[in-house]
Amino acid sequence: MKFFVDTADIGDIRELNTLGLLDGVTTNPSLILKSGRDILEVTKEICAEVDGPVSAEVAATDYDAMMKEAAVLAKIADNICIKLPLTLDGLRACKALTSDGHKTNVTLCFSANQALLAAKAGATYISPFIGRLDDTAINGMELIGEIRTIYDNYGFQTEILAASIRTVNHVKEAAMIGADVATVPPATLKALVKHPLTDKGLEAFLADWEKTGQSIT
Ligand code: E4P
Repeated sequence: MKFFVDTADIGDIRELNTLGLLDGVTTNPSLILKSGRDILEVTKEICAEVDGPVSAEVAATDYDAMMKEAAVLAKIADNICIKLPLTLDGLRACKALTSDGHKTNVTLCFSANQALLAAKAGATYISPFIGRLDDTAINGMELIGEIRTIYDNYGFQTEILAASIRTVNHVKEAAMIGADVATVPPATLKALVKHPLTDKGLEAFLADWEKTGQSIT
């Protein structure tokens, strides 16, 4: 499973990249707002930092305007992935951009039929939003399973990018169901390493090591 980080905070991205854990980055207009940065400037910095795809989202809602914005975003770097909303215009833009050789991420997916449409439009990634479905008392993880089944039934190459991840269990369950990628907030990504028995075990080993009086040199 690939790990993308869901943020436009260049500091967090640099830290996680140092750990060797990053396969890509996703941003959206809300994350750009939170970063307080200019979209073109910060996206350029992110693209230079990571080798993998960096999703940058169009803000337009009609096809022609989306295509114009996509052209601007695509010029930022070779690893840009154009993020488009799951609307008829977004799907049309997805088809056109994919045919032109661009990577695309169709976002705001809340149903298996929407994911089917995105695959037919040739999307590189489909982003089903787990947490936002959970918020409405619908099990977001079931959607990941439905999409996995449909894509496998027909051999669609579109990758399932589990999004709107809120917990470490979301990551585990998405991996078990077979999502290709999880885009995870920085804090949740770092929390994956945590286990109290690891901390306790390390503490005991260090205490015993101290008693040996040895050093590894
Ligand atoms: C990723 O591409 C999405 O924009 C993001 O995961 C949305 O997460 P949220 O529902 O926590 O805003």
